[in-house]
Amino acid sequence: MKFGNKLTILMLLLALASLLVVANSNEETIVMQKKLEKCEFPAIFNFGDSNSDTGGLSAAFGQAGPPHGETFFHSPAGRYCDGRLVIDFIAQSLRLPYLNAFLDAVGSNFSHGANFATAGSTIRPQNTTLHQSGFSPISLNVQFYEFNDFQRRSQIFRHKGDVFKELLPKGEYFSKALYTFDIGQNDLVAGYFLNKSTDEVKAYIPDILDQFTTVVKDIYNRGGRYFWIHNTGPVGCLPYVMDRLPIKAGQVDKVGCASPYNEVAQYFNKKLKEVVVHSRKKLAHAALTYVDVYSVKYDLISHATRFGFEHPLRACCGHGGKYNYNEKIGCGGKITVKGKQVLVGKSCKHPSSAINWDGVHYTEAANKWIFDRIVDGSYSDPLISLKMACHKL
Ligand SMILES: *[C@@H]1O[C@H](CO)[C@@H](O)[C@H](O)[C@H]1NC(C)=O
Ligand SMILES: *[C@@H]1O[C@H](CO)[C@@H](O)[C@H](O)[C@H]1NC(C)=O
Ligand SMILES: *[C@@H]1O[C@H](CO)[C@@H](O)[C@H](O)[C@H]1NC(C)=O
Repeated sequence: MKFGNKLTILMLLLALASLLVVANSNEETIVMQKKLEKCEFPAIFNFGDSNSDTGGLSAAFGQAGPPHGETFFHSPAGRYCDGRLVIDFIAQSLRLPYLNAFLDAVGSNFSHGANFATAGSTIRPQNTTLHQSGFSPISLNVQFYEFNDFQRRSQIFRHKGDVFKELLPKGEYFSKALYTFDIGQNDLVAGYFLNKSTDEVKAYIPDILDQFTTVVKDIYNRGGRYFWIHNTGPVGCLPYVMDRLPIKAGQVDKVGCASPYNEVAQYFNKKLKEVVVHSRKKLAHAALTYVDVYSVKYDLISHATRFGFEHPLRACCGHGGKYNYNEKIGCGGKITVKGKQVLVGKSCKHPSSAINWDGVHYTEAANKWIFDRIVDGSYSDPLISLKMACHKL
């Protein structure tokens, strides 16, 4: 009994001590960040895939129809989501307007940035069409061409004055802006859809990352300085991957995700981090932040109930199968029920407690949760918050 008490006290003391250590290191980070001035990002230029597409694919290849957008925008808003994406929460927290897609020709206001991402984008150009494979022809190199053209032409038009002055960014914004990236997931999945083995997919990762690094360097050469780079998420936990790709016995982890696909994502992330670290040395005036979104998403999926979510592996909007996902007829598609055409809509009660929206993308609630975890820098390398990401540590 006595011994038990002493042990309890000892354990309490140990727990307290470790708490103090944690508090201390957090404090140090915070103190260190306090000495630095908060960054003033006047604009965001975003590059990526559907994780951050705010209307690009919709503008060029057809709208992401209802029920996309219904939770927040109350109508389709170019996003593959019921509401906002992580990039929307990033813009909001930097007190900037939501980003318009560069390809959105009508009603766009680019005074504080532009979004070059399109759903289905890869880093490497694919040798298949959108129709054949579902991957966007607007790969990262094309997004850079668009950016380049935007930078040049926006300044020509700004100098004409009038309304252009209100719709286009100031020239100086290009060197003060935050350049955000969330791309790579589709490069991995594309290989598997072409029946490549994990070894074959791993073998082309260096090529993907070379092309990624080239674009970062090209943007740097055009004046970009601050880079915020998301790694890729646990694709093996997404219904469309688990439904469409083979999973052998013993390849499912305790959460229910397909481990080979998650392992390749982690391998990609490890290599991505290496090239980011390497680019820091090469690009002397750049601040590059690598953000481990993978860990945040995996944590959310594996402890869904603890965080107030349910059915982490089921699509909220969809129908059929183990994951409420059907490759042929997705969210917003039409099915025939008793001779009538019916919209494939929400089948979960509350998207606010769902993680997966349509089998491929996260819900607004999940995106908000993810954003809240990454904004303070605790998943960043270096450990730096979003609003401090202009500092080179
Ligand atoms: C497309 O084909 C070219 C030429 O064979 C090859 O070099 C390139 O790696 C291919 N791209 C992809 C994404 O497979
Ligand atoms: C464009 O957006 C900026 C920032 O929100 C705003 O100040 C400006 O008035 C807008 N321009 C037009 C023409 O709507
Ligand atoms: C991949 O393999 C499946 C099953 O064998 C086959 O149906 C499909 O056509 C193959 N896809 C490609 C792109 O070769």
